[in-house]
Amino acid sequence: MNSISNLQGVILAAGEGKRMYSKKPKVLHEICGITMVEHVCNAARLAGVSEIIVVTGHGGDEVRKKLQGLKFVNQEKQLGTGHAVMQAEEFIKDGTVFLLCGDTPLLQAETLKNMYKFHIAERNQATVLTAKFENPYGYGRIIRDSDGNIINIVEERDTNSNQKEISEINSGIYLFEGVLLKKFLKLLNNDNDQGEYYITEIIKIFSNKDLKVGGFLIDNSREVMGVNNRLQLSQAEAFTRQKINESHMLKGVTIVDPINTYIDHTVQLENDVTILPGCIISGHTSIKEDSVIGPNTHIISSQIGKNVKIKNSVVVESKIDDGTCIGPYANLRPGNVIGKNVKIGDFVEMKNSIFGDNSKASHLTYIGDGDVGENVNIGCGVVFVNYDGKEKHRTVLEDNCFIGCNTNLIAPVTVGKNSYVAAGTTVTKDVPDTDLAVGRAKQENIAGWVKRKGLLK
Ligand code: UD1
Ligand code: CA
Repeated sequence: MNSISNLQGVILAAGEGKRMYSKKPKVLHEICGITMVEHVCNAARLAGVSEIIVVTGHGGDEVRKKLQGLKFVNQEKQLGTGHAVMQAEEFIKDGTVFLLCGDTPLLQAETLKNMYKFHIAERNQATVLTAKFENPYGYGRIIRDSDGNIINIVEERDTNSNQKEISEINSGIYLFEGVLLKKFLKLLNNDNDQGEYYITEIIKIFSNKDLKVGGFLIDNSREVMGVNNRLQLSQAEAFTRQKINESHMLKGVTIVDPINTYIDHTVQLENDVTILPGCIISGHTSIKEDSVIGPNTHIISSQIGKNVKIKNSVVVESKIDDGTCIGPYANLRPGNVIGKNVKIGDFVEMKNSIFGDNSKASHLTYIGDGDVGENVNIGCGVVFVNYDGKEKHRTVLEDNCFIGCNTNLIAPVTVGKNSYVAAGTTVTKDVPDTDLAVGRAKQENIAGWVKRKGLLK
């Protein structure tokens, strides 16, 4: 007998997913930031499956790239779920093997563990994970005998009117004794409405050979929902999202409007973080205590410190240190490292820049490829002119300098410590420490001009 930590798993992920009407293979569609097939792999791994074999086919290269480090077999033509399992046959060992579908992204490891215990306790040769659905349309129906053993699974399109009424469905998740699975795979045929090899047919074969096939019926039917189209994708996403939000709230995160808060699996939030309505927080993002995010903020793969406030802004692949305020309406593109107690105000765009502690860019500024020191004040309408049409160059603003409004900083250029740049200046050469740079046309007032032109109101 296999121990729970020494199981094999075969995941079927070769199908095109016609009903998705998508360029992307079905199993690569995402639920809360993780592809469906990765969800299934994670559940299998957490349940103790130590060797995973993935059957790929349609969009195989993409699927393999996403699931690095696993064993793969190729199903050249998608001739059905039974045919897919046949491709993995040579790798299936004699012990117990999980057979899983790449399109059941809500599956939980705990369920697989319990199913395995049931399989062993009942001394089954095969176990099918089943659930009762109020609307079982589209799923294979479970046929049991009077002892409760499963004797057949009938696909929707092959059901008669009595079978259509059966609410117990096949989740597409099975445990088999590998040696028997391999032996009887050969007996599958494609004599059905779709002309495909159905893995479900093997249940009838097992039953006819007097092998014991049990059904492990779970209460939480949603967990085994298959995702075949975009409607089901959105339902699976909504369910997962709710669970993620609930888990954060129960661990001390305030989420003011969970229905309108979208947090990926991969996000880490400390307690006493507050998320206001309309936020999307995705990728490998972490947010430390007492930070307030939102409303209407999108953060992707960023590290946010303590007591940071981000309002109505976009933050992509950036680091923001403690006590800093961002927005409203700031756009932080990838590659920024922003210090403590900084202010990045409205309509400031920043990319690939370092921005030191206590510095400020309060409004309407573009900071591209900048190295900004500490206590720097950047006035309204400053532009880091980082691109000469061919290459990008950096602008260095050293500690304590002051950049007046409407300044163009033509990179590469350095503004030294404690220096000032007068409003309206175009800085084309370095400014030494403690100097004032002024570069603008001198103003002239033309006396009496309005009257002379007859423009006086
Ligand atoms: C399948 C089951 C059905 C069950 C349902 C649960 C069969 C015949 N039917 O139907 O009883 O209720 O799942 O969700 O098994 N795949 C391949 N190669 C193929 C065909 C499919 O790898 O040639 C993969 C798909 O990528 C998918 C999985 O197998 O991950 C299931 O295939 P799908 O076409 O979605 O089967 P269903 O019609 O949902
Ligand atoms: Ca399916």
